[in-house]
Amino acid sequence: MNCNELLVANLQDKIQQSFELLSSYDWLINSYVLDFYVDNHWERLPPCWKSCFERLEIGKLKDLLLVDSRTENRNVWPLSICALRVFFRQFCLSRKLELHPKDSGKRTRLHEHYQKLFHKSVKLKKRHEIEKFCDDCQRTGKEAEVEYLVDVGSGQGNLARTLAYGYGFKVCCIEQDEQLTKAAKVKDEQLSSSLKKQFNVELSNHPIHLSRKVDLEKIEPEQFLQMIRDSFNVEKESPFRFGLIGLHPCGDLAVFLIKLFLSCPEAKFIKLVCCCYMKLSTQDQKSQNYGFPLSEFSKSRCLRLNYEALEIACHAIEQYCNKLDGHYDELKVHAYRAAIEKIIVKLHPTLKHSGLKSTKVTDMSFQLYCDKATSGLGIELPQAEVGSKDVQSDLNHWERVVKFYTLRLMFAPLIESVVLYDRLLFMLEQGISSKIEVIFDPICSPRNHALTGCK
Ligand SMILES: C[S@@+](CC[C@H](N)C(=O)[O-])C[C@H]1O[C@@H](n2cnc3c(N)ncnc32)[C@H](O)[C@@H]1O
Repeated sequence: MNCNELLVANLQDKIQQSFELLSSYDWLINSYVLDFYVDNHWERLPPCWKSCFERLEIGKLKDLLLVDSRTENRNVWPLSICALRVFFRQFCLSRKLELHPKDSGKRTRLHEHYQKLFHKSVKLKKRHEIEKFCDDCQRTGKEAEVEYLVDVGSGQGNLARTLAYGYGFKVCCIEQDEQLTKAAKVKDEQLSSSLKKQFNVELSNHPIHLSRKVDLEKIEPEQFLQMIRDSFNVEKESPFRFGLIGLHPCGDLAVFLIKLFLSCPEAKFIKLVCCCYMKLSTQDQKSQNYGFPLSEFSKSRCLRLNYEALEIACHAIEQYCNKLDGHYDELKVHAYRAAIEKIIVKLHPTLKHSGLKSTKVTDMSFQLYCDKATSGLGIELPQAEVGSKDVQSDLNHWERVVKFYTLRLMFAPLIESVVLYDRLLFMLEQGISSKIEVIFDPICSPRNHALTGCK
C-alpha cells in the first residue's frame, strides 16, 4: 500500500468504527435535552452511569469533554465511560492548536503596522481567526503558486481585506447577502481613506465584491469560473490559478465549494474552516447535491447522522468547560427550559417544541423566567403549576440535566470528526492531496479545523 492508500484505509476504518459506536449511543446523542423531564431522560442512563453521575460534583464533568486532556485519573468512571474515552482519544481529531514554527517570526506587514484601523469593528474572535487563516493561506498560496483567492460566504469582507491589503493577494469575495456585500464595500473604503488621511498610505489592491449565491443546482462550474475571470479581468485564454477559501461556510456551502474545486482545473487549492453541520442536507432530502455523507465509502454504507447529532457537533465545548468551573447559574438554563417544556406539554400539548425565547438565568423568580421564556407563544403558565411540588422537584434536580447534557456533548468531537473525515476521504477518493489541521485556538473559536486540498 502506498501512503495515500494507507490514509484512505485508515479513514475508512475510523469512519466505520465511529459509526458503529455512535449508533449504539443514538438514544443519548439523538435526544433533546429540552425533553429531559417530559421523557424522563435520567431513567434512560445505564444503572452504573446513573449511580456514578448522581453523586458526581459538577466540576469533575469537564474531564469527560476534553479529548486532548490527560487528567483521566481525577475520577473513577464506570468502565463503559473509560472505554469511550479511550475510543475518543484514538478516533477524534485533536482540537489543540500547535504553534506553527513559522508563526513565531517577526513580521511587519501593512495590517500589522496599522492594526487599530484593520481591527475596527472586528470582534476579537474574528481577529484571531483572520490572523491564523491568513497566515495559513499565505503558506498554502506560496506552495501552490497562487496570487488570486476567491472567498465564498465572505460576510463583511474582514478576511478578504486583510488578505488583499495585508498579504497582497488579489481577492474576489462572493456573498449571498447583499447587505453584507454593501457593508464590506463601505468598510474597504473607510479603511482606505483612514490610511490615506492619517498615514498618507495609498491602497490600490482592493477586494472585489460580488453579491451572488453559490448553488450547485443553479450554477455550472464553467459559469462560476467565467464569473471569477470576469471579476478579476482575466481573459478566457490567459493562464489563471486561484485558491478557493471559506471561513466558516455553513452547511452545504462547504460541500458546494469542495465540488467546485474538483471541477475547476484552475482552482489549485481549497481551504475551508467549516461550521453549522446541522444545516447540511442529507440523503433523505430531494437534492442530488446533499451535504452528508459525501465520500463514496460513506455513501456505500448508507451512513447517516441526524439533525440532533449534527447540531451538538457545533457546540463550543471548551467554553462550556469553563462554565462547569463555577458559572452555575448559566448551567441551570437547560433545566429551567426543560421544566417549562414539561408544563407546556401538560397544559398545551400542541405547543410542544414551539421554541422558547432565549433568556438568561439570573436571580429572577422562576415565574418571571417562565413569563419571559414563553412570551411570544401567546400563553401564560399559571402560578399553581409553576409553583407546584413537581416543578420544584424538577428544578432541584438541575444538576442531572447538566450531567445528561454533558454526556451528550462528550460525543460531539467524534461527530464533528466523522463529518470532517468524510470530507477528507471524499477529496482523497478524487486523488486530491488533502489534510485537516487545527488552525484556531478552540477556546476562542471552537470550529477550528482547516480542511486543505491541493492539486
Ligand atoms: C458564518 S458566515 C461567515 C462569514 C465570513 N466568512 C466570516 O468568517 O466572517 C457564512 C456566510 O456565508 C454566506 N453564505 C451562505 N451560503 C452561501 C451561498 N450559498 N453563497 C454565498 N454565500 C453564502 C452567508 O450569507 C454568511 O454571510
